[in-house]
Amino acid sequence: MQKTIFSGIQPTAIPTLGNYLGALGNWVSLSKEHRCIYSIVDMHAITVRQDPETLRRRIREVYALVLACGLDHDNTVLYVQSHVPAHAELCWILNNFAMFGELGRMTQFKEKSAKHADNINAGLFTYPVLQTADILLYGAGIVPIGEDQKQHLELARNIAIRFNGVYGDVFTVPEPVIPKMGARIMSLADPSHKMDKSDPNPAGYISMLDDKDTIIQRCKRAVTDSGGEVRYDPAEKPGVSNLMTIYALCTGQELEAVGRAFEGQGYGAFKTAVGEAVDSVLSPVRTKAAGLLEDPDALGALIAGGAERAKAAAAPVLQKVRDVIGL
Ligand code: TYM
Repeated sequence: MQKTIFSGIQPTAIPTLGNYLGALGNWVSLSKEHRCIYSIVDMHAITVRQDPETLRRRIREVYALVLACGLDHDNTVLYVQSHVPAHAELCWILNNFAMFGELGRMTQFKEKSAKHADNINAGLFTYPVLQTADILLYGAGIVPIGEDQKQHLELARNIAIRFNGVYGDVFTVPEPVIPKMGARIMSLADPSHKMDKSDPNPAGYISMLDDKDTIIQRCKRAVTDSGGEVRYDPAEKPGVSNLMTIYALCTGQELEAVGRAFEGQGYGAFKTAVGEAVDSVLSPVRTKAAGLLEDPDALGALIAGGAERAKAAAAPVLQKVRDVIGL
């Protein structure tokens, strides 16, 4: 039986190469064979203060970029989360099935609280419950994500199982799909941290809209060790190993083959080759996204169409939830 796939991305900044290799690439390949529903999760984005104009622009840019990765708009539901009020409604209901203790254990909550110590709001705390609502609303069985979202997925599964334990089989219990390679692309400036679109240091990431010169420069300046051997060893050589992963994914090669190809060449030639490979993957996406953004009316029509289809897809589960809990 065809499974429903759901995933989301926050429009807090232009997505990075990490988002692409860890998640968006998988979104596209899964969309060829399954019913896929993907969301630009703007309500998640407001758990951290956003400038309204910038947020409005980013939502459209991220929508265009995700589409430009190769999704077929006719066969995939791509929509903006805040256009479908059912998310907020189911989130409130599920808040009553999420425990204070388990939410307090979420790594992302702890990290974001440390980063935004002046604004540790309730939304930041219940963020994973909204994420659970996103997934359960569409009966999704599979959720393609990067490594950093694994804990949130476990929580979503626990909430679904807990709810089903009280009311019967209302929710599909979702499974994460995390790629074997590329699940955690690291920062180019500090390979002990993940590549993050909200990193204040732009040297750490490659944005999906960066031009070729910027991409090559970022790769050339990527932090590596003082040796010169292109060898995969994440513990001893995290910077080089990260670049090898990026190169392998962008060229479709195995890590061993990458090591062999650059044997004895030193880091300079390797880093330039990584930059070239990244650009060859991102440049068609960039061009396609620019085309979509050039015609705001046509893009607006796609976004509106996505919202209508998502609303229709969300309605049956929400109705069932209301029925079983007595609303
Ligand atoms: P977000 O916007 O941070 O990231 C979107 C997707 O990209 C993955 N990712 C990475 N993968 C590999 N290496 C990296 N450096 C890297 N950085 C990010 C993320 O794991 C994610 O899959 N809370 C989610 C958005 C969300 C969601 C959902 C996801 C909301 N509702 C429902 C799945 C299902 C987030 O902030 O993703």
